[in-house]
Amino acid sequence: MKLAPVFWAFTSLQSLVTALSIAEINGNTFISLLSGKEVTDVTGLLIAKGPNGVWIRSTTPDDDEATSEAIYVFGRNVTAALTVGDIISLDGKVTEYRSNANYIYLTEISSPKNVQVVSSGNEVTPLVIGKDTLSPPTVQYSELDGGDIYSLPNAVANISEVNPVLDPAKYGLDFWESLSGELVTVKAPRAIKTPNKYGDTWVVGDWEITGENEHGGVTMSDKDSNPEVITIGSPLDGTKNPTDSKMGDQFEDITGVVQQTFGFYAILPLTALKTTTLATAAAPPTTLVSQGKCKALTFGSYNVENLSPTSAHLPDVAGHIVEYLKTPDLVFIQEVQDDSGPTDDGVVTANGTLTALVGAIKSRSNVTYAFAEVEPASNEDGGQPGGNIRVAYIYRPEVVSLYKPNQGGANDATEVVAAQGKNNSDRAPALSFNPGRIDPANAAWESSRKPLAAAWMAKGSKKPFYTVNVHWSSKGGGTSLHGDRRPPINGAVDARMAQANVTGVSSNFHCG
Ligand SMILES: *[C@@H]1O[C@H](CO)[C@@H](O)[C@H](O)[C@H]1NC(C)=O
Ligand SMILES: *[C@@H]1O[C@H](CO)[C@@H](O)[C@H](O)[C@H]1NC(C)=O
Ligand SMILES: *[C@@H]1O[C@H](CO)[C@@H](O)[C@H](O)[C@H]1NC(C)=O
Ligand SMILES: *[C@@H]1O[C@H](CO)[C@@H](O)[C@H](O)[C@H]1NC(C)=O
Ligand SMILES: *[C@@H]1O[C@H](CO)[C@@H](O)[C@H](O)[C@H]1NC(C)=O
Ligand SMILES: *[C@@H]1O[C@H](CO)[C@@H](O)[C@H](O)[C@H]1NC(C)=O
Repeated sequence: MKLAPVFWAFTSLQSLVTALSIAEINGNTFISLLSGKEVTDVTGLLIAKGPNGVWIRSTTPDDDEATSEAIYVFGRNVTAALTVGDIISLDGKVTEYRSNANYIYLTEISSPKNVQVVSSGNEVTPLVIGKDTLSPPTVQYSELDGGDIYSLPNAVANISEVNPVLDPAKYGLDFWESLSGELVTVKAPRAIKTPNKYGDTWVVGDWEITGENEHGGVTMSDKDSNPEVITIGSPLDGTKNPTDSKMGDQFEDITGVVQQTFGFYAILPLTALKTTTLATAAAPPTTLVSQGKCKALTFGSYNVENLSPTSAHLPDVAGHIVEYLKTPDLVFIQEVQDDSGPTDDGVVTANGTLTALVGAIKSRSNVTYAFAEVEPASNEDGGQPGGNIRVAYIYRPEVVSLYKPNQGGANDATEVVAAQGKNNSDRAPALSFNPGRIDPANAAWESSRKPLAAAWMAKGSKKPFYTVNVHWSSKGGGTSLHGDRRPPINGAVDARMAQANVTGVSSNFHCG
């Protein structure tokens, strides 16, 4: 319903508001304009029960897509005796709840009292998303993102302060908010990534999806971060979602309530997800093939996630490089820890870590990699304390070799050395340190990895080529795509821009 001004004049004079519909309590904005008010004689059909409250749906719905017809009633003891299918009436307080200042609020009725069961055994029918409701918007999250969820500056507005009128046909957050508290069904759900350790699982359903990819996931693109995906949270009956599902797995239809929870809109299912079809295959291996010389080299890149010689995941990393990347001629590696892993003992060499990695690759293939890196100064480059993560290269020495190698140290800034001679091997620029770090003393790299530049010569080539392996500051400290701050905070974006500048300026030379 559209809220008429006369209605607001009425409520502002009263602190106790009686016999409002649930749609009137929710209103057509994120924050209820009745927040903080006591309401009496609110009537609804009990559509789901959770450990700490119940969800009720209006028995007098309006036809405005922007106003949710359902609401969460928070209160354990007054709701314990109620049963799904009861129509109840109650009094309570309209409350906006969040556990973190960066989250969107949940509109709920708290401190319920005078709960009366009007009738029991009523039919409860979930709304099928995309059929009984609109379909989730596929591109934009909020009008406050100004058309680009990744735009800068970020955090220029808060949903909770602007409190925009919901446009559920256009904006994803508005869509999910307009169903807050509703019992919904997702038809043909499919996992789009692996779940977290609690089994929370991001899915898409039987609705329009932009960016579907061959792995069964969805790909983000410029300005489009896929608001049509939704996470399935903890089941209401205390069962547990599987934690071992994979991108592309299909589940039985999911029925649950839409709830703002831990900073995300989620569907809390009535019971745990049940897998029906496993994804057909893991991601297909690359079809790129090296010719073993300059004409067609293969390159790979792999963030090996805090790899040390004793990492349990080291064999998997080696297997992926062999089976999926097909042992590229040159691999850019990030997050190589020192030989003592996270033990903070002053050790910075990663010879043992890289030897273990190339050994594990060798044991799975015929390929013997060499490696190149520069040891950082201890605890200067961020990451897990004592781990001294750094970037490195592994390469196939029968195909590529360092061009005029000259091992750099942690504080050596490599520079481009202009071509000296006239003969072929000297006609190209070289690096003063090869491999060498880019401007390691620059303030842009404080507590962060320094980029590793290298010059290479491929077999059969007369001219070198150059690479820079970067691992810039992480997005830690950012806020979620579903958060209150719009556009979301892009953690450490200033540091990354400064780092891009330093890398770009220093790397401003051309391949021979
Ligand atoms: C809920 O239970 C607690 C503890 O048993 C009690 O103190 C409280 O009054 C109850 N609340 C309601 C609304 O009945
Ligand atoms: C948004 O809310 C946060 C947390 O309350 C606050 O720190 C920030 O200043 C707000 N931003 C704007 C643009 O009002
Ligand atoms: C690196 O480790 C290998 C295997 O333990 C060893 O043979 C080699 O001497 C080490 N190299 C350096 C530079 O420490
Ligand atoms: C190793 O090399 C042999 C001979 O070139 C080849 O037949 C075999 O497939 C290779 N094995 C692997 C794991 O690459
Ligand atoms: C080419 O330059 C390299 C490096 O300076 C030098 O060692 C070599 O003798 C030169 N070759 C000829 C043919 O001049
Ligand atoms: C990057 O360099 C450009 C051009 O020199 C400059 O305008 C910009 O302010 C720099 N940005 C950062 C974050 O250092």
